[in-house]
Amino acid sequence: MLEVEGIQTYYGESHVLHGVSVRVGPGEAVALLGRNGAGKTTLIRSVAGMTPPRDGRVVFDGQAVEHWPAYRIARRGLALVPQGRRIFAPLSVRENLLLGARSGEWRLEKVYDLFPRLREREGQSGGTLSGGEQQMLAIGRALLTNGRMLVLDEPSEGLAPIVVREIGRVVQGLKGGRLSILLVEQNYHLALRVADRVYVMNKGQIVWEGTPAGLEAAEEIKRRFLGVAEAGGDA
Ligand SMILES: Nc1ncnc2c1ncn2[C@@H]1O[C@H](COP(=O)(O)OP(=O)(O)O)[C@@H](O)[C@H]1O
Ligand SMILES: [Mg+2]
Repeated sequence: MLEVEGIQTYYGESHVLHGVSVRVGPGEAVALLGRNGAGKTTLIRSVAGMTPPRDGRVVFDGQAVEHWPAYRIARRGLALVPQGRRIFAPLSVRENLLLGARSGEWRLEKVYDLFPRLREREGQSGGTLSGGEQQMLAIGRALLTNGRMLVLDEPSEGLAPIVVREIGRVVQGLKGGRLSILLVEQNYHLALRVADRVYVMNKGQIVWEGTPAGLEAAEEIKRRFLGVAEAGGDA
């Protein structure tokens, strides 16, 4: 579904991604982990057409899209839940959800069934929602674009543990269908619960890839690149 091959991405003169390659198969859920500043969002921006790579390839749904504008990649089926949620505060919940909506399996009612809280708050402005509700709104909005691949950039950021669990449950529930999922996280536990496969990123490079079980056992990788304490810790 997505093949990123050796991309080099810059912000002006600042070279951020150094030959990053990542693959997400059809229906696969892949987690991308790494500390703050590792380059995770930049990778997402490169894939989504917001900060195109200077070199390398991005193949999405069979098309080389590395030179496409963001709207065209979105239309091809990339549904993005951006870091920080980016909901429109003055617009109602319903209006936020319908921005970018396209016909398909996901309809407003189905999103309301997934997040009943959004149905209750349908007429409220987005800015009045809690952080968790705003995240649900951002996920619902992405689902309503009816894309083939859902990309979530740190959906758990700044949320209480109980909300993080709810988001985790929802993302898990989305797995196994036609949707491919790329989940960017700093929350190691959430990522491992959801992912079929994991990449670890550091300083603009992929430094490890494998299964969740493999990462569980890779103490050195967890300690060096994820700040996860040895067994017994609760990081
Ligand atoms: N708009 C930008 N302009 C210049 N540098 C940036 C910009 N956004 C991010 N960076 C830099 O790129 C690096 C990777 O950032 P980012 O992709 O946001 O990491 P992550 O999402 O893993 O926290 C960091 O060193 C960050 O300071
Ligand atoms: Mg980020």
